[in-house]
Amino acid sequence: MDKNLRKAVIAGNWKMNKTPAETTALINELKPLVENADCDIIVCVPYINLNAAIDAAKGSLIKVGAQNCHWEKSGAFTGEVSALMLSDIGIEYVIIGHSERRTYFGDTDLTVNKRTKAAIEKGLTVILCVGEYLEQREQGITFEVVRSQLKIALMGISEADLDKVIIAYEPVWAIGTGKTATAAEANEVNCAIRSLIAEMYSKENADKIVIQYGGSMNAKNADELLSEYDVDGGLIGGASLIAADFAAIIKAASK
Ligand code: 13P
Repeated sequence: MDKNLRKAVIAGNWKMNKTPAETTALINELKPLVENADCDIIVCVPYINLNAAIDAAKGSLIKVGAQNCHWEKSGAFTGEVSALMLSDIGIEYVIIGHSERRTYFGDTDLTVNKRTKAAIEKGLTVILCVGEYLEQREQGITFEVVRSQLKIALMGISEADLDKVIIAYEPVWAIGTGKTATAAEANEVNCAIRSLIAEMYSKENADKIVIQYGGSMNAKNADELLSEYDVDGGLIGGASLIAADFAAIIKAASK
């Protein structure tokens, strides 16, 4: 990444893991390991752990995020949590459009757009996930898929709003599979995403937007992935649940 233009963002997506007590313990373990980090650090925990995470992270560089939010402020949406509720308890970040939400819970490009707009309106920074399925990569339509996901997700998002967007490129075939995109593959798509942002907004926006890579990033491969020009950080699943591994990725991003 280009450190003169952008600060790396390393975010952990804990998915459906850890109880509140385990959340406190993991953040307490992580804190001393990341004291001197030179990148932004976020942990995105299950809703029920948000308060425990905020309390445990106090006085450290660690910020706390959620993994989804609904677009309405309130109402008859059983089981949902609104962007307003998140911002009200001091949450600053939210993952939107993760492939697991799209695949298992019916999220579409249009609902991703609605969630993104609602989150930004409430002052949250969105980690907006895009990425292709293996079949789409094999079909040679990765760029088309990612472009279309982004164009729809960003409908109605102004240039000023874009400061509240981090993009995470997560090829679905690399998530939880141990199969990482090569550094060159990750950089190629991230670079195409940056060009799209230049086309939709401006070169200035494209230069400053943070574009992460996600999908089996770990303590061993982080260095290589993060040394690519257009890879500005990582969205990390499995390895974010082990303090030493997550800290090693943060260290790689701090170089
Ligand atoms: P893994 O790091 O476990 O592959 O998960 C990536 C991911 O989905 C992060 O959002």
